Amino acid sequence: MIASILMVQQANHALPAGYQLDEYRIEHQFSLGGFSIVYLATDPSGQFVAIKEYLPNSLALRGEGEIKPTISEEHLPAFRYGMKCFFEEGRALAKLSHPNVIRVLNFFRANDTVYMVMEYERGRTLQEMIQKNRAIITENFIRNVFTKLLNGLREVHSHKLLHLDLKPSNIYMRNDYTPVLIDFGAARQTLASDTPMLKPMYTPGFASPEHYKQRELLGPWSDIYSVGASMYACMAGSAPQAADIRCEKDRLIPAMVRWEGQYSDQLLETVDWCLCLNHFYRPQSVFALQKALTEAVEKPEQPKQHWLGQVVDKLKRRSPAK
Ligand SMILES: Nc1ncnc2c1ncn2[C@@H]1O[C@H](COP(=O)(O)OP(=O)(O)OP(=O)(O)O)[C@@H](O)[C@H]1O
Ligand SMILES: [Mg+2]
Repeated sequence: MIASILMVQQANHALPAGYQLDEYRIEHQFSLGGFSIVYLATDPSGQFVAIKEYLPNSLALRGEGEIKPTISEEHLPAFRYGMKCFFEEGRALAKLSHPNVIRVLNFFRANDTVYMVMEYERGRTLQEMIQKNRAIITENFIRNVFTKLLNGLREVHSHKLLHLDLKPSNIYMRNDYTPVLIDFGAARQTLASDTPMLKPMYTPGFASPEHYKQRELLGPWSDIYSVGASMYACMAGSAPQAADIRCEKDRLIPAMVRWEGQYSDQLLETVDWCLCLNHFYRPQSVFALQKALTEAVEKPEQPKQHWLGQVVDKLKRRSPAK
């Protein structure tokens, strides 16, 4: 979430509960990000939906009790350009139909901005689970969740789209622990170069080095870096060192060193593989990464015996039972 970073900027007000937005009724606000507001709403049949409203708070301000945001003359071109990208992103997403990618149901313009209607999912983000439910995040959990998530990401990549904002707070976990990819950041990414007011802001630790400075190198391997960082965060409880800082002085302790013996070598090696700074050295496709993740786990080495046990064993060997 980028909300905290942008708190210093103006805060936008959400549409009020009960507001009739096109054919939907706003129930309440879910979240207020720097780029958008997400609401719980009901459709005409009374079904819940989630609605995302394009409202970058660096460009548009909705005061208390207002419906249409105020956009200054100076910010209008950037706002419109961002809106176009948000719209195109939604249209591309609406073509995807995959159990591990958020389903976009509708897309419309209103109140001088754009709205994306999504299926409402019940659950919590992986970030919340990492913070509140650590005990559940075992080797099996990581393998299962990320293998399924990668099925969704494969579908995204096969449509020539990149997620580009993959991190535990954008992985929504249904109550049955199946993951859903939400919050596609690509709209923000496409804007980065020529509209500084809409510059993307990344959660440090999850964006690849090329996200920061070599955008022409962005590719499936960039999302794969973020997947590796998310798996690392599952183990560490917090994000790995940010890639831009790593490029200056890499202090990231490889997963293989940090958790040796606690997870299989194979899983740890896979995480380190995804987190290579040089994009050529990472898995180049989701398929390659999935292959590594689903390979049979080697039996973990026998845990080292306590010294007392070793002495007893030695004595037993010296004086075999008669
Ligand atoms: N389809 C959905 N069903 C249920 N809850 C959702 C859905 N989409 C979003 N949410 C809730 O809203 C929160 C924020 O959503 P999202 O990550 O898309 O936006 P954001 O991070 O606030 O936005 P941005 O970074 O674009 O400003 C999620 O963490 C989740 O709790
Ligand atoms: Mg988000």
